Amino acid sequence: MSFQTEILNDSEVSINRAAELIKSGEVVGMPTETVYGLAADAYNEEAVAKIFRAKERPADNPLIVHISSLAEISEVASEIPALALSCAKAFWPGPLTMVLPKNPRIPLITSGGLDTVGIRMPSHPTARALIQASGVPLAAPSANLSGSPSPTCAAHVFKDMNGRIPAIIDGGSCEAGVESTVICFEQNAVKILRPGRITAQMLAAVTPDVRIDKGVLHEVESGAKVASPGMKYKHYSPKANVVILDGSSTAFREYVDTHDKSGVLCLVFGEEDAADDVPYINIGATSEEQAHNLFDALREADERGASTVYARCPKFDGVGLAVYNRLIRAAAFQVIKL
Ligand code: TXA
Ligand code: MG
Repeated sequence: MSFQTEILNDSEVSINRAAELIKSGEVVGMPTETVYGLAADAYNEEAVAKIFRAKERPADNPLIVHISSLAEISEVASEIPALALSCAKAFWPGPLTMVLPKNPRIPLITSGGLDTVGIRMPSHPTARALIQASGVPLAAPSANLSGSPSPTCAAHVFKDMNGRIPAIIDGGSCEAGVESTVICFEQNAVKILRPGRITAQMLAAVTPDVRIDKGVLHEVESGAKVASPGMKYKHYSPKANVVILDGSSTAFREYVDTHDKSGVLCLVFGEEDAADDVPYINIGATSEEQAHNLFDALREADERGASTVYARCPKFDGVGLAVYNRLIRAAAFQVIKL
């Protein structure tokens, strides 16, 4: 490592400095309401190439472009269906990404070679201020090394990106803790490609036809065509072997108690799930708490040197679907039915 990444506070002076870095073609760590992003000028091919290098991200995995006002959508997309406008009005600014036909101004490197682009208007005031001060839409994937858990605080970004990017704005801990809901449109239907804080139930208020892509819950076969390239990559993985145990709290404790406990750490939904003599992290009782805490817990499991992580099985509905979608990838789809 040849230099130390600078951590900036989220004052106006710092945001303006970060915007200068972005205008000069650099990459900056940016807080959002979901997870931290690695932001650069979405129109600048060389700057976007630096994002891919910093993350070690496969070139065919597209980046989300972040805007700060609805007017900017036409500078990023080439076509905006009426249903997309209704979704934008209902959920922006906020944790929703819409996949739309790409405006030619967006270079192919940003869209991973696709003719569509994922667009989102974040609600986090620092992210919005940074987009405005930079004067361009910002391409920003999650600010982790490719494959590792997404960062939900500036320290996580520093751990993965120190010496790879010039600066990170520290905006504290991210509220949602899981990345945005990614959707695309099929006539009058909305299809969820990645679940998040904006749930299927919430989208149903805009259109009755809400579909969930099968890649959300199931492993994509190698070589299969996917609706969203991110689905086919290994994701969110700590070094430990993660296994989901699907059953009651009692069955979970019993399983852990009757199996080899060396190097085991448990992810539980409350103190009552904890087995005797086994370290655990409580990620919370509600789906919202679990979403907020999951990535931090996966990183902590590594720091504590766990070799096996047994996790309780999240709910499939509401925000729980987002927790399940991330955890099942961290677990490489290993689920044991109790
Ligand atoms: O909350 C978020 O979305 C965060 C913050 C920083 O905004 N960003 C984020 O970006 O999670 P990333 O790159 O880690 O995940 C983007 C996902 C990937 O799975 C990618 O394949 C998918 O969105 N995606 C992006 N553009 C797409 C497109 N044009 N078509 C299909 N999927 C797309
Ligand atoms: Mg990511």
